Amino acid sequence: MTTKPFYITTAIDYANGAPHLGHAYEKILTDVIARFQRLRGRSVHFLTGLDEHGQKVQQTAALRGLTPQEACDEAAVLFQALLRNLNITHDDFLRTTQPRHKQVVQCLLQKLFDAGLIYKAEYTGFYSVRQEQFVLEKDRNQDGSWPEIFGEVTSITEGNYFFRLSQYQAWLVDFLNKNPDWIFPSFRQKQVLEFLKDPINDLCISRPRERLGWGIALPFDNDFVTYVWFDALVNYFSAVENTGLWPADAHVIGKDILVPPHAVYWPCMLQALGLALPRRLIVHGWWTIRGSKASKSSGNAVSSLDLASIYGTDAFRYHLIREMSVGQDSEFSGEQLESRYRSDLANELGNLLNRLLNMGTRHTGGIVPIVGETHPVEEPETELLALWEKTAAQFIELSEGYRFHTALETLWVFIRFMNRYVEHRAPWKLAKSADPADRIRLENCLAHLAEGLRLTAVLLSPVMPDTAARIQENIGVAPARTFAGQIEWDLKKTGGAHLAEKAILFPPVADPAAQK
Ligand code: MSP
Repeated sequence: MTTKPFYITTAIDYANGAPHLGHAYEKILTDVIARFQRLRGRSVHFLTGLDEHGQKVQQTAALRGLTPQEACDEAAVLFQALLRNLNITHDDFLRTTQPRHKQVVQCLLQKLFDAGLIYKAEYTGFYSVRQEQFVLEKDRNQDGSWPEIFGEVTSITEGNYFFRLSQYQAWLVDFLNKNPDWIFPSFRQKQVLEFLKDPINDLCISRPRERLGWGIALPFDNDFVTYVWFDALVNYFSAVENTGLWPADAHVIGKDILVPPHAVYWPCMLQALGLALPRRLIVHGWWTIRGSKASKSSGNAVSSLDLASIYGTDAFRYHLIREMSVGQDSEFSGEQLESRYRSDLANELGNLLNRLLNMGTRHTGGIVPIVGETHPVEEPETELLALWEKTAAQFIELSEGYRFHTALETLWVFIRFMNRYVEHRAPWKLAKSADPADRIRLENCLAHLAEGLRLTAVLLSPVMPDTAARIQENIGVAPARTFAGQIEWDLKKTGGAHLAEKAILFPPVADPAAQK
């Protein structure tokens, strides 16, 4: 029996602006999980894409004098360039204006309609013409007037289509209670249950075409288009319909779109359709810039992406993954990226590789010494080995639980230990000694360093794929495609390999402020 590929998705981004830090992070996090799973030996299907319908897209396009489709086509170019720049290994990019998606949305709507799970009803509410949206009692000012931004607010009655969401509330509560790990981190699942303590309403899934033209027509009433969330959520399914990939193994999303869309609408829609639920929601927090959520309106959130080209994609990926504990918010700072670049990357990792290449060129003819019974290991090597075993086991366990920031921290303890090991052994001194035992120590040291770096590269590769490949190339070993057989200490894997003369993994970067 073949196992189903691991199917993972990101949220699909709104096509009404340029990509920013929040979008970049979500792609990187999902890519790290995808690459990690591949190294675990699973085949992976990775979907991302663009959410192109709805009021906001229509409005932004109109302001720019473009048709909505033209605006979306522009956005698609920008978002796809982002994926390339960040070295994302997605398999598919879905746009909700694609026929393959629209057909499935219409087919699912028709199914629900035929089953009596969608009905038409009159809705009376306060409507803001300026904002083109319904407003609620709670939006009023304290004196009962409406805030200025809404302009004129009038009571209107409108026919619309509703999905019988409320019918699934009890089932959903039961499902969540029975599957306490459905949402990661688990405190988010508790928030959903909290939300479900109050009765939920049926979901309005239509918008009159006269008010909003930019959407997917309801198959049973052409005067209406589909509510953008109903349309958008279906992307996870429409992209893989008839491929056997459904259900998704994980949807990676930000905390702002958990309740109600992903934790309430989506499972109830699937349940109503008789489709399996995704196996897990992975919910990350927000990147903030000076305390506020990074968004397209905060210019810094867009320009922070330039740091990926200044410091390199891998350094940018490293910083985001090292800094954010998945689920929590994190403050983004260019200074911190710069400081990690200098210390963790250039001084600790880059320098370690360079030391090995340098000493290998000088003392062992550019070849990793082949050591065996003739080279008894001493205490420093035994310690290094023991630390590696601990590091590898912890790294894998932490990464399985999406604790990538701690996994990296653990790996860096090992990298720092290797630097101390070199200083302790001081091969440059051993090289000057006439004692044959010192020659053995020197060879042992270089062999252990090369092996330690080979192993480091394997674990590092989901987060820093290019850096891992460059380490492998410079120490003369083949890239590792899976963890299996590649993360055990094995001097035979590196012994005899040809070392490059020199490599600068993380060159000094001029003050980014000076480059502006
Ligand atoms: N189009 C909807 C999602 C539909 S999914 C069926 C949407 N788009 S979005 O462009 O606003 O956001 C896309 C993703 O980026 C969301 O998961 C959101 O949480 C994430 N981020 C947007 N800003 C963010 C930060 N400042 N920090 C981290 N991620 C945040 O919502």
